[in-house]
Amino acid sequence: MDLSFREILSYASKKSGLKLDGYRESYLRRRIELRMRILGLKDFSDYFKFIKNNESEIDELVNAIAINVTEFMRDRSPFDYFMQKILPELARKRNGILRFWSAGCANGEEPYSIAIAVLETLPNRNFSIYATDIDEDCLKKALEGIYEKEQLKNLSKEHLDKYFEKIGDKYRIKDFVKRHVRFKKHDLTSQEPITKFLDAIFCRNVMIYFDEKQKEKILENFYNALNSGGYLIVGKSESIPKGKFECVSVSEKIYRKV
Ligand SMILES: C[S@@+](CC[C@H](N)C(=O)[O-])C[C@H]1O[C@@H](n2cnc3c(N)ncnc32)[C@H](O)[C@@H]1O
Repeated sequence: MDLSFREILSYASKKSGLKLDGYRESYLRRRIELRMRILGLKDFSDYFKFIKNNESEIDELVNAIAINVTEFMRDRSPFDYFMQKILPELARKRNGILRFWSAGCANGEEPYSIAIAVLETLPNRNFSIYATDIDEDCLKKALEGIYEKEQLKNLSKEHLDKYFEKIGDKYRIKDFVKRHVRFKKHDLTSQEPITKFLDAIFCRNVMIYFDEKQKEKILENFYNALNSGGYLIVGKSESIPKGKFECVSVSEKIYRKV
């Protein structure tokens, strides 16, 4: 690793508090190079000088690293599987409140999608969703719960009317959905799981940024946080190594704690 690249990482980490050592080096390089291209800078040493003289660049870089692209019911089919198979099974097997965690929840689309899925499938069941992200701006947006139509394209018109109120050309999630979700700032790379005894964890399109060692640590935390037989749902392009989880759906990337 060249010196300026390392200096950028340690400077950005110190200033922002974001722990960067668990991220894949190739990923961090690409994200810094993206910022360099935007700023018209040629090499890492120029970027290091720039970031030291421009405080606001720290936020820009952190945002570029913790990308928060998302949408409601992203990729749709894992949510269909969740509604058709997982929720009915949990309803049969578990008494009391059902508990879910959206880890890396971005602007709230994922936890609210989980809430909609449960309300649709088990309308009389008590449930809670913990939703965490490292990015405070995301969490603020998530709490506001106001979305553009584009974010909602995977939802039917019926669900839009039922779960959102229209304000101008935007959509606000209704309070009866919101009250099931608790948002909290949490760093997956350095903090213990937010809670335990969970029935399912959604951690989709987050672990792709981390190196194998970091991923292993996070998976261990997820394992400890789940109930026996609890589910872990990862992103479409992700997979997790054989071991503590068995794969229950290859195409939907759904795993179960064994
Ligand atoms: C691409 S979004 C995924 C959102 C959603 N899970 C989905 O699949 O649509 C990745 C999210 O992970 C969050 N993230 C990145 N690093 C993180 C970390 N160390 N701890 C917690 N969240 C993190 C980002 O802030 C971002 O909101």
